[in-house]
Amino acid sequence: LKLAVLVSGSGTNLQSLIDAQKEGYFNSEIALVVSNKASAYGLTRAENAGIKALVIKSDKELLDALLENEIDLIVLAGYLKVISSELINAYENKIINIHPSLLPEYGGHGMYGLYVHEKVFADKKDQTGATVHYVTAEVDEGPIIIQKKLIVDYDVIKSPEELQKAVLVIEHQILKEAIKIIEEQ
Ligand code: GRF
Repeated sequence: LKLAVLVSGSGTNLQSLIDAQKEGYFNSEIALVVSNKASAYGLTRAENAGIKALVIKSDKELLDALLENEIDLIVLAGYLKVISSELINAYENKIINIHPSLLPEYGGHGMYGLYVHEKVFADKKDQTGATVHYVTAEVDEGPIIIQKKLIVDYDVIKSPEELQKAVLVIEHQILKEAIKIIEEQ
């Protein structure tokens, strides 16, 4: 599959896909990396890996770039803009998102980044994790492809930042697994 990975931040999930592609973990090719933020370090990661990287200013520009590059699957990896219904319709069941919690818990509007882990930490949940799901019109509610749990030991995890770091490791594992699952469908 030709993948487009959409990022807004550091792009460690993107890096995990770049590394997976390099080691032949899946057959898909990351053909394009797109960000809505010129400052996203994910763009640098793409350039370092010789992958075409674009900054887009509108949903229209995004849709045109995806069609032009004949993208088969869109991967939202820390992409903090809501996807337009036009794009969801144009790529029905071909957009996936990675979310740093066991959806449907701690999902929905405003639940992203460190805030998710601050809520889990405040609630002292004994487990959390990460989820890869298909993107639909309802934020974080699409069919789940893969989830992985993390049992939280609060003697070890002493802050939301440490929880975020531990969950990121899981995100990196299940995102590349999700690509393989979709390839085999
Ligand atoms: C990850 O926690 C992801 O679950 C969330 O945004 C963060 C992106 O991190 N959607 P990175 O840019 O991949 O490092």
